[in-house]
Amino acid sequence: MRKSILAASMLGLMLGAGACFASTADDAMHEYEEALKLTPNLENGKKVYRVCTVCHTPEGWGLESGAYPQVAGQLNTVIIKQLADIRARNRDNPTMVPFTSPRLLGSAQDIADVAAYISQLPMTPHNGIGPGIDLEWGAQVYKDNCVECHGENGEGHLEDHIPAVYGQHYRYLLRQFEWIKMERRRNADKQMVKQIHNFTHRDIRAVLDYVSRIRPPKEKLAKDGWRNPDFPKFARPSSIHSGAGYAIDKRPTRPVRPQ
Ligand code: HEC
Ligand code: HEC
Repeated sequence: MRKSILAASMLGLMLGAGACFASTADDAMHEYEEALKLTPNLENGKKVYRVCTVCHTPEGWGLESGAYPQVAGQLNTVIIKQLADIRARNRDNPTMVPFTSPRLLGSAQDIADVAAYISQLPMTPHNGIGPGIDLEWGAQVYKDNCVECHGENGEGHLEDHIPAVYGQHYRYLLRQFEWIKMERRRNADKQMVKQIHNFTHRDIRAVLDYVSRIRPPKEKLAKDGWRNPDFPKFARPSSIHSGAGYAIDKRPTRPVRPQ
């Protein structure tokens, strides 16, 4: 008797949790579809983007340390989907979620606008790359496992909202990939999770090193030293953010034991 009550309440809990996941994904998809139908307004997109500059920088380049991803030049469908997922808590991002509240990020129209603005920003010519020691293997792994979805050159797929991965910071790629593999990123593509299930550490590092070194097409890259003229007054943090990024980036890739 006791057992069956326990079983029944466990079942209830499981169903409840299932329904809860289903609804966050559904909410996000609903907002995604709504935003896609709207005509984006770049001028408003720039205004909405202001609050995002604090972390993603005015250029949208994020940090080499991978703490913040490069968003500039990403496919607009991908940006819309990620924003809708993060807002609906279908992708956990505790750092950013407060900034996706309706008060700060606004409506589906604002999402469409900011996505259009970000996707047309030129990308950094100096994204963070891996150690470069196993690139041939990385190229092979990419060809056999990723091309089908992320494209020959890592350009992603607009209609299927598959992220462009070229030009992204190596450490960000690594973190996302590991989270997807561990099924910690709830909005992950189920087929990708299956595909990478048996990847070793070597496979993961090699393929993402290779990906981080695929150059985006020239017309998508900014000139050296470019600064986004839309945010002339932005105070660039010199110590906290960039300092932390610098320290991480300059660590030797293979730590040496002190003598
Ligand atoms: C407080 C810092 C912060 C702010 C402000 C912020 N973000 Fe983010 N954003 C992050 C972090 C951190 C991640 C990566 C989270 C992770 O590693 O899973 C991220 C991820 C993203 C992604 C997913 C990128 C990808 O390739 O998967 C998009 C798109 C994005 N942010 C857009 C925005 C927009 C648009 C705004 C402004 C409305 C914004 N962010 C404001 C910290 C921030
Ligand atoms: C079956 C299609 C598919 C395959 C195969 C696949 N991916 Fe993905 N990948 C996706 C989709 C779709 C997403 C985005 C999921 C979402 O958040 O909506 C993604 C997300 C990612 C991300 C996170 C990007 C970001 O900006 O946050 C990385 C990194 C990634 N994939 C790398 C790879 C690599 C490397 C391979 C090959 C080893 C691979 N993927 C194979 C479909 C695929």
